[in-house]
Amino acid sequence: MFALATTSIAWLITAIVLVGWIVYAALNMRSARAEIGSEIELAANRKPYLDDEELEGKRLELVQVLGVLMLIVIVIGLPAYWIFEPARMAGAERAQEELFVDWGSSLFASTEDGGFNCAGCHGGMNGVGGVAPFNVTDPLTGEVSAVNWIAPAVNTIFYRFDESEVRFILVYGRPFSPMSPWGLEGGGPMNFQQIDTLITYMRSIQIPRENCGPGEEDPLTCPTGHLPASIQGDIDTLARQAVADGTYASYGEALYNLDLASGAYSCARCHTQGWSWGEPGVAGQGAFGWNLTGGSTNSTFANESDMINFIKQGSQFGARYGIQGQGSGRMPGFGNMLTDQQIQAIVEYVRSL
Ligand code: HEC
Ligand code: HEC
Repeated sequence: MFALATTSIAWLITAIVLVGWIVYAALNMRSARAEIGSEIELAANRKPYLDDEELEGKRLELVQVLGVLMLIVIVIGLPAYWIFEPARMAGAERAQEELFVDWGSSLFASTEDGGFNCAGCHGGMNGVGGVAPFNVTDPLTGEVSAVNWIAPAVNTIFYRFDESEVRFILVYGRPFSPMSPWGLEGGGPMNFQQIDTLITYMRSIQIPRENCGPGEEDPLTCPTGHLPASIQGDIDTLARQAVADGTYASYGEALYNLDLASGAYSCARCHTQGWSWGEPGVAGQGAFGWNLTGGSTNSTFANESDMINFIKQGSQFGARYGIQGQGSGRMPGFGNMLTDQQIQAIVEYVRSL
């Protein structure tokens, strides 16, 4: 708003100054023309000028008033500029951001809307999660079957991954799945700028977080905020129901396998082969994420609390985790998604595999 007001004022001033100059130039040229040859009679520098009375009368006052007016413009105008400039810059930044979101949304849109169909697989423009038709080949028999592969929600993607990790996923895809590489480096069609605008768009559709810490302004990305308690509660209810109806033996096992269509909250989609298309193999035997069975997590992590910290933060590219683990950034962090109690239950289950 400020940005618009200052811009229009600036245009108005520019227009006035321009018109002023044109009028001045025109008048000047006219009087110059009238003067042609005049110096033959009387050279301009010998022309008797106004006398003291006249010079120090009205004329001087007029010039002084003009001076004061100019001073007022500077004294009020400069501080006003100083006051409005930050708002103008913020406005410009927001406008740029909105432009990016707009560009990103047209890339994200489904094929029929002219986009790259992220929306088609990931559950519409809000990215709530969906399914993607795919053919999987049985590695043993070579048999090909048509399946529906769960495409996780992306409206929580920044809860799980940081920007560079999301960029990696977009550029290189998940080559074993319907998620193809989209960046040029990965063999896809999009340049750096397009991936960037997609990231900005996905930021704009994040589920707003609850309990952002002091000084953290943006509920879409604030580092300490977590998933709204109502959603965490729904996850709880679902898991407890699955235990009650005998689908899973424990609360932790149910959370690990959480049967949400979006897949975004479960571990099984990455650590249990076949889970993503409804034919789960042995729990935790490894798929995109590593094998967690045979007590391997007990030797990877010295104790339960180390493992809990790892699940909360996820892996960071190049950073150490556990005793001798080095992260790739592909293991998501669940600290902002699930409650401490939920993570604890999952860890206890996984350590028992
Ligand atoms: C043909 C369907 C399809 C299309 C089109 C598609 N995706 Fe995906 N995407 C998937 C599937 C399936 C997965 C999960 C793969 C897996 O199981 O690891 C996925 C994974 C992802 C992930 C990682 C989510 C996570 O938590 O692991 C992100 C981010 C993502 N897609 C964003 C996009 C964006 C942005 C686009 C558009 C440029 C897009 N996808 C287009 C099917 C698709
Ligand atoms: C998007 C896929 C994905 C999801 C979802 C996922 N993981 Fe992982 N996980 C990985 C990958 C990939 C690794 C390997 C480490 C790396 O590459 O940084 C890993 C590593 C791990 C490890 C360390 C294994 C070792 O021996 O080094 C544990 C433990 C683990 N995951 C547990 C979990 C739990 C528990 C959940 C659910 C709360 C979960 N993961 C959800 C992909 C995933």
